[in-house]
Amino acid sequence: MTVLVTGGAGYIGAHTVRALLAEGHQVVVLDDLSRGHAAAVLEAELVVGGIADQALVQQVCRDHQVSAVVHFAAFKNVGESMREPQSYFVNNVAGTAALVAAAAAAGVNNVVFSSSCSVYGTPTVMPVDESAPIQPESVYAETKAMSERVLGWMEQTSGTRSVSLRYFNAAGASADAALGEDWSASLNLIPMAIKGTLGAGAPVRVFGNDYPTADGTCIRDYIHVDDLADAHVRAVDYLQSGGATTALNLGTGTGTSVSQIISAIERISQREVPHEMVGRRAGDAVAIWADPRKAEALLGWQARQGVDEIIATAWAWHVTHPNGYDPS
Ligand code: WQD
Repeated sequence: MTVLVTGGAGYIGAHTVRALLAEGHQVVVLDDLSRGHAAAVLEAELVVGGIADQALVQQVCRDHQVSAVVHFAAFKNVGESMREPQSYFVNNVAGTAALVAAAAAAGVNNVVFSSSCSVYGTPTVMPVDESAPIQPESVYAETKAMSERVLGWMEQTSGTRSVSLRYFNAAGASADAALGEDWSASLNLIPMAIKGTLGAGAPVRVFGNDYPTADGTCIRDYIHVDDLADAHVRAVDYLQSGGATTALNLGTGTGTSVSQIISAIERISQREVPHEMVGRRAGDAVAIWADPRKAEALLGWQARQGVDEIIATAWAWHVTHPNGYDPS
């Protein structure tokens, strides 16, 4: 069976391509390389092109006898989405509609969609389960919520079944350090802290230490990228066996504070993490972590790796790839 992976040259996409191949699937990647890296596509065919090119999508589906789509290709920078909303609505939402319609026209009706816990905004009940209200607080998050709704309508109109996977804080790298996150484009906590520790960036700024948490810093649910990849493989199998359209949280169910992340990096790297306490970042939720039981019930999925594995693999990747996928 061949799976079309859009955005397979990106961070989570590239790890998922590998996981699909390891489970015996054929994979073809569609990526326009505007944000992804050709070097991240290991052992799969890469078609360079956009998801809104419906003729190309249909041709790829037919040529490769595709039976499912795993759809990552999207812009993912929250700040950028507030400055350039139009490009986020066009690329993420209109792009998803075009892709899914073209796939359906080529007879491909199973879609696994890369969604985000940010669709919940600032939830009031913790842990967050899938019945929490959808209240996006950024254009980026809105494009994920809208894309989920597009997929819902596509079931009625084209018979497309889908699984929307709502990731919590994706982090870590592959165990062999062959794949990881390109930190040049990332403002996330773990790459920023490791960058500062390796002297490749400024000391990481801790956004607020006066929150009502045990150590005063914000709490998030960090989930290993290979655990996310595993969930995508299971979601493809679930749809192929006739599973119904659904949305699933992907998290560990455990929260970790910013200070705990910094301590873990210090313990695992045996280095001091240069950091400075600064004021709160606008829009940050105090504490958010997942109730992942629905994903366990439907996919038999559970996160296997915790914060230590996340930090150890991210550290190994960044130390060996100071320029990301760029060899220079
Ligand atoms: C984590 C914690 C910061 C950077 C993001 C996306 C969200 C979703 C999940 C994809 C927070 C603190 C961070 C720094 C810091 N992704 N921090 N100094 O904001 O939880 O969520 O990933 O769909 O949409 O926004 O991730 O890594 O930015 O922050 O103190 O330099 O680290 O305040 O508490 P976030 P993050």
